[in-house]
Amino acid sequence: MQICRDKQAMRDWRGQAGRIALVPTMGALHAGHLSLVAHARTWLDAGGGGRVVASIFVNPTQFGPNEDLATYPRDEENDLVLLRQAGCDAVFLPTVADIYRPGAQTVVEVTGLSRILMGRLRPGHFRGVATVVTKLFNIVQPDAAAFGEKDYQQLAVIRQMVADLDMPVEILPVPTVREPDGLAMSSRNRRLSPAERAAAPVLNRALDRAAQMIADGANLPAVRAELRRIIRTEPLGQIRSIDIRDAADLSRVGAIRRPVVILLAVRFGDVLLIDQRVAVPK
Ligand code: PAJ
Repeated sequence: MQICRDKQAMRDWRGQAGRIALVPTMGALHAGHLSLVAHARTWLDAGGGGRVVASIFVNPTQFGPNEDLATYPRDEENDLVLLRQAGCDAVFLPTVADIYRPGAQTVVEVTGLSRILMGRLRPGHFRGVATVVTKLFNIVQPDAAAFGEKDYQQLAVIRQMVADLDMPVEILPVPTVREPDGLAMSSRNRRLSPAERAAAPVLNRALDRAAQMIADGANLPAVRAELRRIIRTEPLGQIRSIDIRDAADLSRVGAIRRPVVILLAVRFGDVLLIDQRVAVPK
């Protein structure tokens, strides 16, 4: 596995690598990230082969001033072991100084999608994501890039950006990988206390129930009330937002007539957990 610690090393490797699929991450890897690597490999193999590149870069511009940049988990040694085992061909591990040169003036912002939902809770977050993903695409020049459905709005932002700016990159969506008790895997889970960790699977239980209700024809207020009721059975969880939106474009819905996505953001202590489920009415 080739390790590229700066842009120049990455560009040099890319130049002789043929078809490439990129898996952008911020490290502290778990089975969810490795599923992205596997999906990238499957996509390459279906088209005649190629190389999988993962990037590990804790991107400062997507963290707000009061967010967890300083405490974001970092474990490079273990990440490299996991990526090697997963069959990754190269890893891009740039420094902040290499990615963000002084004097930069250009950002990428998907104006509408960045200002709703999580974008309202985290102003500037999706601009940071869109900007760094654009830079990664320009440096690595992948043919495809894999993103998790767990970060549903992030995936929507990236798809919109790629379409709007004619980026020649195919976006590969990857289903959420969960712990055996249903908790969506996340590097933030390790910051939960034992009691919070025991309570956190309530998100998945609430989503299961809501998706079933929607499949059975329940209306929006009934689904919303049931989500709230189930999450409140765990007093350690503080609901930050519950949204039910059009699954295709995240627009508001007055009634459930097409596939919708249920988006949850619930705080346990100082850890904000998110989860989502697409639900299809009967
Ligand atoms: P990070 O949180 O490290 O996630 C990297 C990728 O892994 C994202 O596409 C995310 O959706 C996916 N992922 C995380 N948990 C997952 C799970 N349980 N199942 C499946 N996929 C999962 O998202 C970011 O980093 C950053 O915003 C980034 C895109 C790298 C830009 O900085």
